[in-house]
Amino acid sequence: MRDELNALAADLLAAVGDLQARGALVDLPRAEVDTAPQAAWASLAATSRTEVLVGEGGMRAVRDELGDCSRCDLCKARKNIVFGVGDPSADLVVIGEGPGEQEDLQGEPFVGPAGQMLDKMLENVLGLRRDQVYILNVVKCRPPRNRNPLPEEVDACMPFLRAQLRALRPKLGLVLGSVAYKALLQTTQGITRSRGRWHVWRDPHSDLVLPVLPTFHPAYLLRQPQDKRLTFADLKDLRARYDQEGGRR
Ligand code: URA
Repeated sequence: MRDELNALAADLLAAVGDLQARGALVDLPRAEVDTAPQAAWASLAATSRTEVLVGEGGMRAVRDELGDCSRCDLCKARKNIVFGVGDPSADLVVIGEGPGEQEDLQGEPFVGPAGQMLDKMLENVLGLRRDQVYILNVVKCRPPRNRNPLPEEVDACMPFLRAQLRALRPKLGLVLGSVAYKALLQTTQGITRSRGRWHVWRDPHSDLVLPVLPTFHPAYLLRQPQDKRLTFADLKDLRARYDQEGGRR
């Protein structure tokens, strides 16, 4: 029994060391790594290392790390953590700001009115269903009364967004709205000036380089429909690049 436990512990340490060396966990708060429940480590060890690093297994490992998160005050009023939804092997990731009321209730991103608009944008212009892309948010818990997330809330969640992007390794990213754009690209420039131009997001903890295209948030477009034509043009540009880079349909 003791030998078996020692062997299991050695396997777990090797798996964690491998993940950290290759960038999958390096960005997560150290204390959380050290105190993660044994079940989470057992499930990490049970999965092959490649699966843990990318795709479904990688996303599961990041979700396990997030746990029943209380790293910022958004945990106090949330009903559900909204981790993300879609194909963990998708070639396109869609990055929003944070859950609204419906998302908080259902635990899934973009399921309210803005989500219906997003679904139409994806299907009508990109020719992709929401289950063919991966959809996530900068913050995983709903800010009270849908206010913008505070800098400390973004900072607390950002390691998990980066870990999700490392696990997904998508070809391209679509960034929705000013809050997500500023948080991801670490800039103060607004969305009106930045939309429609390709930017490069570089992961500080791995070799991942992700071309991203910012555009208006669908919730903004519901309020300002006259700007839909600008986002339509951005999405056509995204579609062309997606096809050029061999994005799957
Ligand atoms: N707005 C966002 O940015 N994300 C959601 O999940 C819903 C609305």
